[in-house]
Amino acid sequence: MTDIQETKQVKDLVTLGEFVIQKQHEYPGATGDLTQIFGAIKLAAKLVHREINKAGIADITGYAGQENVQGEQQQKLDVYANEKFKAALAARGLVCGLASEEEESFVEFNQPQNVGSKYVVLIDPVDGSSNIDVNVAVGTIFSIYRRVSPEDGPVQLEDFLQKGTEQVAAGYVIFGSSTMLVYTTGNGVNGFTFDPSIGVYYLSHENMRIPERGQIYSVNEGNYVHFPMGVKQYIKYCQERDEASSRPYASRYIGSLVADFHRNLLKGGIFFYPSYAGHPKGKLRLLYECNPIAFIMEQAGGIASDGHRRVLELEPTELHQRTPLFVGSPNMVKKAEDFMRAFA
Ligand code: AHG
Ligand code: MN
Ligand code: MN
Repeated sequence: MTDIQETKQVKDLVTLGEFVIQKQHEYPGATGDLTQIFGAIKLAAKLVHREINKAGIADITGYAGQENVQGEQQQKLDVYANEKFKAALAARGLVCGLASEEEESFVEFNQPQNVGSKYVVLIDPVDGSSNIDVNVAVGTIFSIYRRVSPEDGPVQLEDFLQKGTEQVAAGYVIFGSSTMLVYTTGNGVNGFTFDPSIGVYYLSHENMRIPERGQIYSVNEGNYVHFPMGVKQYIKYCQERDEASSRPYASRYIGSLVADFHRNLLKGGIFFYPSYAGHPKGKLRLLYECNPIAFIMEQAGGIASDGHRRVLELEPTELHQRTPLFVGSPNMVKKAEDFMRAFA
């Protein structure tokens, strides 16, 4: 039985490193900086991949016995992944600071190699971490900006509180049936599958585009009673019979944003995490979940809004602020926004 990878001639296989270098030659002004930052992300993701793949055996599942700034129980893997991404990015010397779901404030990188560096990284080290113990796909989400504060001074909060439109790169790693890294630098979206036998990420999904029309809706319907009327009406719309628009749609919800997003990116669909009773801004965090996801989705031909406004235009005011999120195939997100407007 030929391994799927080997159906391509080795000469056809492009590694992530080769691809980033190829692409940077295509864009004037591109420097090797992103190549090095991606190198750090690739390395940390390999370490997380290794821990996840022995989760059942090693002492990496379960709670770390402490809470993060969100008041959420940290999983051991949340802490492990956060430390590995922080260390790998600091070592590369191009990043002057990091903000993370697992850190209350931003972390300044002030080792000698970081002085004068011009990028900041925001990260959700493990997304969907409640799924680790039940062997369901989880992910890492990252977002990269150029700093806006003076390069000869310490990194500032303003470097992290930038609109999503200012991102220079964004991506995610999905640790599923295979481990994949998907990213954009604003020139399309490309996906790389990790081959653990030789520790290399190969280009497997070039120029990813979400299908214009989707037939999958992803939402935690357990919150239905708490949703705004527009969301309730849209969910009912998804469930009505109408052959012309291929309804009722299929309902799929994994509970890991990265996994639900990745499936919809490949197959078409909408993922939405609306506001709900007691949570006017929903659950997902703007800076290290919604902005990178929105950048990728727009680059793949989809839409990302908070139900009314483009996510990438939202003005950040604090590191861990939340926003409702509606993201996916244009026809589906626009229809959801119509219902939100009609019942506002
Ligand atoms: P994280 O594990 O980084 O806190 O993110 C979990 C998020 C997201 O991955 C997912 O879409 C959402 O939580 C699921 O929330 P519910 O369990 O409330 O549906
Ligand atoms: Mn998350
Ligand atoms: Mn997380």
